[in-house]
Formats: sequence, structure tokens, C-alpha cells
Amino acid sequence: MSKFILGIESSCDDSATALFDIESFRIVYHRKITQELDHAKYGGVVPELAARLHTAALPGLLEELKPHFGDIVAIAVTNEPGLSVSLISGVSMAKALSIALDKPLIAVNHLIGHIYSMFLDSQNAFPMGVLLVSGGHTMVLDIAENGEISVLCATGDDSFGESFDKVAKMMGLGYPGGKIIENLAKNADNPSKFTIPLLHDKRLEYSFSGLKNAARIQISENLHSYKDIAAGFQNAAVCHIMDKLGKIYAQKKWQRFGVVGGASANMLLREKLEILAQNHGAKLFFAPLEYCSDNAAMIARAGYEKYAKGDFSDALSLDISPRSELKFA
Ligand code: KG4
Ligand code: ZN
Repeated sequence: MSKFILGIESSCDDSATALFDIESFRIVYHRKITQELDHAKYGGVVPELAARLHTAALPGLLEELKPHFGDIVAIAVTNEPGLSVSLISGVSMAKALSIALDKPLIAVNHLIGHIYSMFLDSQNAFPMGVLLVSGGHTMVLDIAENGEISVLCATGDDSFGESFDKVAKMMGLGYPGGKIIENLAKNADNPSKFTIPLLHDKRLEYSFSGLKNAARIQISENLHSYKDIAAGFQNAAVCHIMDKLGKIYAQKKWQRFGVVGGASANMLLREKLEILAQNHGAKLFFAPLEYCSDNAAMIARAGYEKYAKGDFSDALSLDISPRSELKFA
């Protein structure tokens, strides 16, 4: 008999389920129904639509898992942070399933889920530093050997991924904007100039709203092509990430460093991180490309950590925490 942790993710615009097999320490199953195309015409996620689409998608995903119900030993679900109406769909289903199968319920923080996307089939590599770059977050994290997480740097306004989404929306090119802007930038002839945010400011803080506004002005001025603006914007955004991260790294000198979240698929960012890690003789960790964006494999894997400690939630009272944040150091 196998022993599976079922993972369920519905915090934003992806409905997903996965099975982590405790015995072989592997993700043995993953399915995801993304809503990206449904939200594309609005240039961002529309919560009401996201909720409806989760309600439509999740029962089918569950039905597909029916042959494995007998092997499920616990149900892990994202309950924070995220869009409230989206989180509710997955959490309601997980609670019902926990009661019906009489198996424990595990509440997983989505950001901790992203961290475990680097260790889907392996033990974690803590202590380490982590850059988390997604649609909702941009953070430099310090993870202690016992897994305790402190936030060393975060954004005061837009996130890295969100700023790509907004620039693509201004250009009328759809959603999500990360891949769109990255692809446009590849064909640039002469990247336009952007001022790097907070370059001479000592604060260890990110800010992407100024870059977004600079892109808006360049688009309206019509002096540069979209591909040159995309390249200039991407260069500046990555440069801003690396400027603050470089300063933190000089103090922390991590031997292991990881990058996670949907925007960790950005190749320019990966190249720069590889150089930084090399300069510090550190080992660099990524999630496999298909697990950089939201998925349930990372939720099942992170759920296993709580399963191993017997850290369960009550199916009658578990609530969502849409705005929950990790703690600053
Ligand atoms: O982690 P994720 O799938 O969802 C959240 O939890 O937010 O991240 C999605 C974000 C979107 O903002 C998307 O535009 C961005 O990641 N993204 C990228 C790239 N691929 C995805 N940003 C920059 N470059 C990329 N290649
Ligand atoms: Zn995410």
C-alpha cells in the first residue's frame, strides 16, 4: 500500500492537485487547470471569475483521484495567503474530504509551499537564503536550520512579477506579463533607459511602482519600440533585485541560495543569480521550470513536513488567512 499526502492549491488562478508518496519520497501525480487564458483579456486576475472557475474545476480534479483515495493518509491545502474567494474553494473541498475520508487536514502557507518547490523529491537544504519572486510577493528570506523563516527585504509597493504584468497590460499584450515581456525583450535592438529604483538609498527594500510608471511614460511618448521598452524595463527590474540582494548577500554569505516563485522562471534573473552564487562559492537551487508557477506538488511536499510533526488542523474550524505575511527579522 502506498502512503500519499494529497495536496490541493487554489490560492490564485490555478486549481491543482498532487500526490506526494511518503515511501518513495516523490511526487507521483500532479494535475493543474490554469485560468490564465480566462483572465488574459482583463489584464489580471478577476477574483469573482477565479472563484467560479475553481468551483468548476476542483470536483473534476478530485474525481480523477478517486482510485487513490484508499492510499491518502492526509490532506494538505493552501489556506494562506491569497485571494480569499479562491482560497475558500480549495479549503472547503479539503475540509469535506478530510471528514469524508477520516484523514487529518494540514494547512499550508503558499509561500512556504513555494520554498518546497525546490525540494519536491529531496530533503530540504536549510540553512539557506531564498529569493521569492511571484505575482504577489518579492522577498529575500533567511531560513534557519530548523526551518524558521525571517524576511530580510520585501517590496513596499508592487511585486516583481506584478510589475511585468502591469507593463504587459499597458502594452495591451495580455496576462500573465512575465513571459510576454521576457520574450519581447529578446528581440530588442536598443534597450531603453530606466533609472534603477533606490540605487543610492541605504534602505533594504524593493520598489517596482516607479519602474512601472516610467514604462507608462515611455509607452505614451512613442519614442521607443515595445521590445526596446520591454528590455529596458526587464534590465532595470532585475538590476534592482540584484542590487539589494547583493548587499544582503555580502552580510549573510549563504553557502546555499534558492530562487522560487512564478517569476523565478525569468532567464535574465537566473543568469545574474548564477553569477552571484558563483562569486560566493555557493550552491544555487531552483525549482524545476514547470513547478515555478503555482502548483499543488509544492503544497503536498510542504504538507509532508507538517505531517511528519503531527501538525494537523481541525476540519471543523480551519479558516483562511488571505493576508497572512511571513515575519520580518
Ligand atoms: O508564483 P506565481 O505563479 O503566482 C503567485 O503566487 O503570484 O507567480 C506568477 C507571477 C506573475 O506575475 C507572472 O507574470 C510572473 O510570475 N512571471 C514572470 C515570468 N514568468 C512568470 N515574471 C518575469 N519573468 C518571467 N519569465
Ligand atoms: Zn505563488
